[in-house]
Amino acid sequence: MKVTVVGAGAVGASCAEYIAIKNFASEVVVLDIKEGYAEGKAMDLMQTASLNGFDTKITGTTNDYSKTAGSDIAVITSGIPRKPGMTREELIGINAGIVKTVATNLIEHSPDVILIVVSNPMDTMTYLVHKSTGLPKNKIIGMGGALDSARFKYRLSEAMEAPISDIDGMVIGGHSDTGMVPLASHATRNSIKVSEFISEDRLQQVVEDTKVGGATLTKLLGTSAWYAPGAAVSSLVQSIACDQKKMFPCSTLLEGEYELNDICIGVPVILGKNGIEKIVDIPLSNAEKTKMKESAEGVSKTNGLLDV
Ligand code: 2OP
Repeated sequence: MKVTVVGAGAVGASCAEYIAIKNFASEVVVLDIKEGYAEGKAMDLMQTASLNGFDTKITGTTNDYSKTAGSDIAVITSGIPRKPGMTREELIGINAGIVKTVATNLIEHSPDVILIVVSNPMDTMTYLVHKSTGLPKNKIIGMGGALDSARFKYRLSEAMEAPISDIDGMVIGGHSDTGMVPLASHATRNSIKVSEFISEDRLQQVVEDTKVGGATLTKLLGTSAWYAPGAAVSSLVQSIACDQKKMFPCSTLLEGEYELNDICIGVPVILGKNGIEKIVDIPLSNAEKTKMKESAEGVSKTNGLLDV
């Protein structure tokens, strides 16, 4: 199993590290345009192998896509991260050109690759990859909801003073500060609705804190987060690589599902060896349906800025 990670920045390097530590891939290639940077990150990570107990071979390359040839899965993290006060959507001007070039180069050397898009604005970048590559839609996956769901569970555990391992929750919709739809009505603690443990007001605060989870960290860190994004990507990669059939909220091209068309936005999907193997239709309350529609309007507006 060969995995390529494009972008050796904080998110890409964290993703490579978590993939290696989970030890399901034979090879991880990290690529960056900055001279020597990916090579350095790869070597540093390889020097943790004996300490962290993995056999995955991590190598780095400076913009040589021939080294990525034959990748089963490739993760696109390249582009600029947002700064405090910025929205993800403001990155489109710079990141769109980068993502289009990277996706094209990856597919040229790995025609059967499954692509996972992380670069922001992620839903629009995922849509751009569809429009600019023609790769089958099951092989183009946007990572946002898995990260947002992890933040949702973190906030729920904090509110209920419960271990995160007790908690389940999912965030669908756009990966944006205003467009996320945390499914509060479905969230549980050991199969019991979370509304049995916390008040409606406290649950709404959890929802709002979840939606700005990325912006909160960007304000604290001065740049976008990287540990949870890297971990979220590695979980998607593992479900594909090991054909686990796990269900995650991922940005995928909708063609009528959830009453939406010609848009990439976060919905529950089953991830296996073929990438997105099924889009799962789940019951939504009228309020959740309205929020999903509003979220899609926001993503479509950003898509309108693309030159596709
Ligand atoms: C985040 O929410 C980088 O969009 C990513 O942290």
